[in-house]
Amino acid sequence: MSTTPTNTTTNTTTNSTTRTALVTGASRGIGRAIAERLAADGVLVAVHGGSDEPAAKEVVAAIEAAGGRAFVVMAELGTPGDLDRLFDGLRAGWAEFGVDGLDILVHNAGIGATGPIEVETEEGYDRVFAVNTRAAFFLTQRALPLLRAGGRIVTITSGVTRIAFPEGIAYAMTKGALEAFTLALAKQLGPRGITVNNVAPGIVDTDVNAGWLRGNPVAEAQAASRAALGRVGQPRDIADAVAFLTSADARWVTGSTIDATGGSDL
Ligand SMILES: NC(=O)c1ccc[n+]([C@@H]2O[C@H](COP(=O)([O-])OP(=O)(O)OC[C@H]3O[C@@H](n4cnc5c(N)ncnc54)[C@H](OP(=O)(O)O)[C@@H]3O)[C@@H](O)[C@H]2O)c1
Repeated sequence: MSTTPTNTTTNTTTNSTTRTALVTGASRGIGRAIAERLAADGVLVAVHGGSDEPAAKEVVAAIEAAGGRAFVVMAELGTPGDLDRLFDGLRAGWAEFGVDGLDILVHNAGIGATGPIEVETEEGYDRVFAVNTRAAFFLTQRALPLLRAGGRIVTITSGVTRIAFPEGIAYAMTKGALEAFTLALAKQLGPRGITVNNVAPGIVDTDVNAGWLRGNPVAEAQAASRAALGRVGQPRDIADAVAFLTSADARWVTGSTIDATGGSDL
């Protein structure tokens, strides 16, 4: 998989005060909405994608069309050399814009798991942990020296750390591990002025749920009825919660999880 920073805008407005972000899994779904929202807030966004470079480029084009700044970084997490490719691409993108340093790291890339414990395979278990948990751990490790004072780390976990989800038990475990990671990291990075938090979505209308949700009014009504707020979540619902955590208004919030499930299964 190639790493291809792309930028078609002039960079004259970028300077050392520019806030930067890396959003993993930003080529579609929730990650795309987060990238677009942060860019609208004036942040230079590294739009990370795994396998779908055209989709990541489309996100950058949409951000630029809206007056924002972004570039593509491709790296399939959970494959050999993934983080080398990711950080090479990040540095190349920053060089194009004349910046060097990370203010916002959003761990969003993720995959689901095969199913309940009876059918989960060792291979499937290892893969979901490699993409959802291991990659976030070592990506953070490599990002630590780049994170500037006042930085923000936000991890997209899931309502399944609160609501039992035996249908995807290994997936739920990856998210539980991430929440423990956030708690420990928040304590460690507090002295640097860096906050570390989670946003836990419920059922969101993205590709991951398209097979059973989209075009199925019965399934949609059932999913909506689980939320106190009475509808299925949209990617922007999650992006706006992330934007809060990355804003100055959230300066005193760290080590916590925002439940962004619309009040599911209360
Ligand atoms: N949708 C929900 O209902 C829901 C609920 C709770 C939590 N979440 C969490 O929210 C996050 C985003 O979910 P989503 O629904 O937006 O998913 P999605 O629509 O399936 O998008 C997943 C994104 O992650 C990237 N990705 C997947 N595997 C990757 C890998 N191995 N390496 C690099 N990138 C990879 C994809 O990139 P490419 O397409 O370029 O490969 C894509 O940009 C996930 O962590 C998920 O667990 C979602």
